[in-house]
Amino acid sequence: MLISMPSPNDAQADLIAYLDFHVEAGADAILDEQPHDRFGEADTPAPTLRAPRRPAAAARPVPVQSHLLVPPPGSPPPAAPPSTFGRAASAQPDEAASDARARAREAKSLDELEKILADFDACPLRFTAKNLVFADGNPEARVMFLGEAPGADEDRIGKPFMGRSGQLLDKMMAAIGLDRTSAYIGNIVPWRPPGNRNPTPQEVAVCRPFVERQIELVDPEVIVCLGAPATQTLTGTKDGILRTRGRLFPYKLPTREAKLLATLHPAFLLRQPVQKRLAWRDFRALRGLLDGKA
Ligand code: URA
Repeated sequence: MLISMPSPNDAQADLIAYLDFHVEAGADAILDEQPHDRFGEADTPAPTLRAPRRPAAAARPVPVQSHLLVPPPGSPPPAAPPSTFGRAASAQPDEAASDARARAREAKSLDELEKILADFDACPLRFTAKNLVFADGNPEARVMFLGEAPGADEDRIGKPFMGRSGQLLDKMMAAIGLDRTSAYIGNIVPWRPPGNRNPTPQEVAVCRPFVERQIELVDPEVIVCLGAPATQTLTGTKDGILRTRGRLFPYKLPTREAKLLATLHPAFLLRQPVQKRLAWRDFRALRGLLDGKA
């Protein structure tokens, strides 16, 4: 029997095909040498992330290395880049969240807040995202929509709700006479989680002071939370979105109380179009609120 051995070129082609497969599946960034269960880290941060704190000057981010480089056969394993994640590598979640609170409070305008966020290096997501996705729409609007986190299209363009979910959101808004000149749109987390995974509780906790300050600065009459993560983050409820949708929650702003309306996320509606009738009910209620009829 003749057994053919793969040539070095075949082996390299296989390796490239294997990496391409992962990129297609959304695993498109190298984060560490070892896998981590981020969801299991809610109470105990992974020890490998607890590198000693660096002085601020040494804590600048360095670019993430290209993820498709195939090392030549026989080359030594690459050394782990120690400062790839800036302060995100060393900050404890609580410390990062209280730093975020202090930084967010400093912002006196949305422009300042965006600059502060762009410099904030205690959330690891910023090191794998291409762009900060801060907001789109009209900051003077009476209504603010909030999603969960940017996807690949938003990350590439730097604005929220640009892909298929965004197109559906635009249609839903148009159905009640809104568009991006009469609404403001943001996310709970302003950087794309790699491979479109859900943001972890720690990532949400670190980003939360910024979105809270963003809401204060926009000062909307109505906040529409698209999906469970936005609703749970801003109201504290643990209920799922099929329970909370259509409900109005009070949301305290510095000078008054806004109304927070929970509804279904457009991505969920793309997967389950039959649920659009529920979202339509919520959007009609939103129209009623804006027209002073509720
Ligand atoms: N989904 C979200 O939650 N936000 C976006 O910006 C895009 C998709």
